[in-house]
Amino acid sequence: MINKCLFPVAGYGTRFLPATKAQPKEMLPVLTKPLIQYGVEEAAEAGMTNISFVTGRNKRAIEDHFDITYELEDQIRGTSREERLETIRGLIKDCTYAYTRQVQMRGLGDAILTGSTIIGHDPFGVILADDLCVGEEGIMSQMLKVYEKYNCSVVAVEEVPPEDVNKYGIISGQQLDERHTRVETMVEKPDPDQAPSNLAIIGRYILTPDIFDILRETPPGAGGEVQITDALQTQANMGAVIAYRFRGRRFDCGSIDGFVEATNFFYDRMKQEENR
Ligand code: UTP
Repeated sequence: MINKCLFPVAGYGTRFLPATKAQPKEMLPVLTKPLIQYGVEEAAEAGMTNISFVTGRNKRAIEDHFDITYELEDQIRGTSREERLETIRGLIKDCTYAYTRQVQMRGLGDAILTGSTIIGHDPFGVILADDLCVGEEGIMSQMLKVYEKYNCSVVAVEEVPPEDVNKYGIISGQQLDERHTRVETMVEKPDPDQAPSNLAIIGRYILTPDIFDILRETPPGAGGEVQITDALQTQANMGAVIAYRFRGRRFDCGSIDGFVEATNFFYDRMKQEENR
């Protein structure tokens, strides 16, 4: 049973400037819900109710979102608008929240290492909230089953167009069945002609806690940042990483195209539900 989930949210979100000048990109809404709430709902569905955020400057709105807003709640109590707070109230009640700060943006690997003081010695989930995932069963719940079977780190992967491999960590290895691959090689943002495959790691991980010691020894890699992919390669060398092709769909809400796609998808779904 894994009950901890880490959310690295320290990035600047420069692709969304000026919207992200004074607010975190994770608070941008797809319809009425901020991206971060979709992520926390996915973690909670998987039973990961100990939520930890690795934050940075300008991220206070996230803390406020997962807390009670007394004045507002008082004002709308007993009105029809109150039901709009139902899901967030449920998350506030059912989960605990902890925060720590990444002082310098030194990469995702460094952000995850910053979370080590909260996570301790247990395996844990990692969700990058700007990858918004939908599936009949939540992606993290699916990954938990993979972890329970293989007892090692798990990364969610999907096929991407060959020309896009330079935006992702790319894996290759021994295919175990249609959905599972034991990872042998992972490369961060390879040139398309050097990529070992087109299977890209998306923003969902389950990591075993030995990753922290490995990260401490991992020098900065691609882009001068400490890459989680490089640390995972050390685990993969021991046969301890499974790549899982999840069932569902992912929207890259860190990009404008993906964000608009997600908005259209959820809007259509909402309209279909209204007409039912
Ligand atoms: P991105 O590569 O999307 O970077 O980070 P970003 O800064 O958020 O966005 P752009 O590219 O400037 O628009 C992927 C995820 O890793 C986190 C980010 O918050 C995001 O969820 N991250 C990245 C950190 O927490 N710390 C880092 O040092 C780097």
